Amino acid sequence: MSLRSKTSDLRKRMSEAIKGGGDKAIEKQVSMGKMTARERIIELLDSKSFFEYDLFVEHAAKDFDMDKKKLAGDGVIIGTGTINGHPVCIYAQDFTVAGGSLGYMHARKITKIMDHAMKLKVPIIGINDSGGARIQEGVNSLAGYGEIFYRNTLASGVIPQISVILGPCAGGAVYSPALTDFVFMVDKISKMFITGPEVIKSVLGEEISMEALGGARVHAEKTGNAHFYAESEKECFNQIKELFTYVPWNNTKKADSFPTKPPKTKSFKISKIFPADPTEPYDVRNIVRSISDDSNFFEVQNLWAANIVIGFTRLNGDTVGIVANQPLVLAGVLDVDSSDKAARFIRYCDAFNIPLLTLVDLPGYLPGIDQEHAGVIRHGAKLLYAYSEATVPKITLIMRKAYGGGYIAMCSNHLKADFVFAWPTAEIAVMGPTGAANIIFRKEIAQADDPDAVRQQKIDEYKEKYANPYIAAAYGYIDSVIELNETRKFILHALEISQSKEVVLPARKHGVPPF
Ligand code: HXC
Repeated sequence: MSLRSKTSDLRKRMSEAIKGGGDKAIEKQVSMGKMTARERIIELLDSKSFFEYDLFVEHAAKDFDMDKKKLAGDGVIIGTGTINGHPVCIYAQDFTVAGGSLGYMHARKITKIMDHAMKLKVPIIGINDSGGARIQEGVNSLAGYGEIFYRNTLASGVIPQISVILGPCAGGAVYSPALTDFVFMVDKISKMFITGPEVIKSVLGEEISMEALGGARVHAEKTGNAHFYAESEKECFNQIKELFTYVPWNNTKKADSFPTKPPKTKSFKISKIFPADPTEPYDVRNIVRSISDDSNFFEVQNLWAANIVIGFTRLNGDTVGIVANQPLVLAGVLDVDSSDKAARFIRYCDAFNIPLLTLVDLPGYLPGIDQEHAGVIRHGAKLLYAYSEATVPKITLIMRKAYGGGYIAMCSNHLKADFVFAWPTAEIAVMGPTGAANIIFRKEIAQADDPDAVRQQKIDEYKEKYANPYIAAAYGYIDSVIELNETRKFILHALEISQSKEVVLPARKHGVPPF
């Protein structure tokens, strides 16, 4: 065969292989409002940057007449490319080929590109659209999942791992995403469940639609399994590109620096956002915007456990992780979900060299039978653990309430915050004035001719004496009490001088966090 005919033979083979599951299956995919696997990769990566590998891989199954079937690329596309000019490894399951189901060779392709990502120290992105373990391949499919989960675990904290759910992901297809750093879902297109509606109906007799069981909204709002929710695949890809402007390419690097821009103080002025009345709620995200470069804030998990806010911003051009109580929701209390949410984010930032800024305004941990029985002790402890263990620069600003366990847990001096600042409006005490007065002055209140008047008098006395930052400042637990409009100045300075921070933790294989 001449070189020319060999080249045309290659082109023919390639054009056959890239057809995936064929016209009919592609039509079905498109009619559901979904892009094809290849279109998704092209849309997400920088223009013309994608290089594909293992296009000619074939499945190795024999049973159930599988030896008579040809599955293009075995239902998954793998390759490398760039996002914002930085290298990434990527795979996308092709639902048009056997429902994107995962067989032995399909899994080998995925683990191959994951191994590349680890060797090259670049992020791995998985676009998941799969019916789960390929039933015809039995234990080999399960083995394939096991190999992926193992690699997800070893890659954790080394390279960023991104999961994009763009189809019905069932069974094993959901556990790899759960082990990765950020999960993206799209309304009406993404679904995740261990067992689908049909199994649930036959086993338990319960009826539910796929959307109501494991749609994007459910995972973004109720379960916390999704970190980002989008209305369309395009919006989702833009979210991923934006995320990559904030995170470093691996755990030995810092995220990209950008030119510093001042906050947009006309729209976000601290003194206008922060209410004079200490009982009035406000949106803490606007406080973040009032101090961050160009007032940017890229929020993570904005729909779940909204009583705590987490996300990325830039200060002096560099990425900073934000953890902030949200007085707009449940007065910003800590509970099972918000502790979980913040603790994982803190560990992410710590693993990837991102300094942490904690904004505090909370009445404490949420009391109640539900919370106690849901394990608020164990989940709340995750926050203590994550902050204590984090060695990146840790800066804390106490804006208003910092009561009880909440004061300690929100990156206090005692969990080794590097700098703790407080506004003059801060209230730092074991508990709120009303609760405290009711307990320590119980007898005087009960014996008084006018118990209500005495209660109010004691509350006022307690407030006057203890609900301020100066007692904590007198012990050195607060480094500086600062004016509101000096906040950015103090934080920028603290970040600047913390750049070479080094902390050596005790030698150990690893700790045992309250997972
Ligand atoms: C083999 C599969 C498959 C699977 C889908 N297909 N899932 N083939 N193994 N797991 C095939 C279908 O046979 C069909 O092939 C094609 O993919 C498209 O599937 P449809 O059913 O026509 O599509 P749709 O109606 O959109 O429904 C999608 C679906 C459904 C909801 C995902 O296919 C489904 O329920 N699949 C099974 C999901 C599941 O229970 N998975 C768990 C596997 S066990 P043809 O040839 O007709 O086009 C597991 C355990 C691992 O994952 C545990 C690890 C911890």
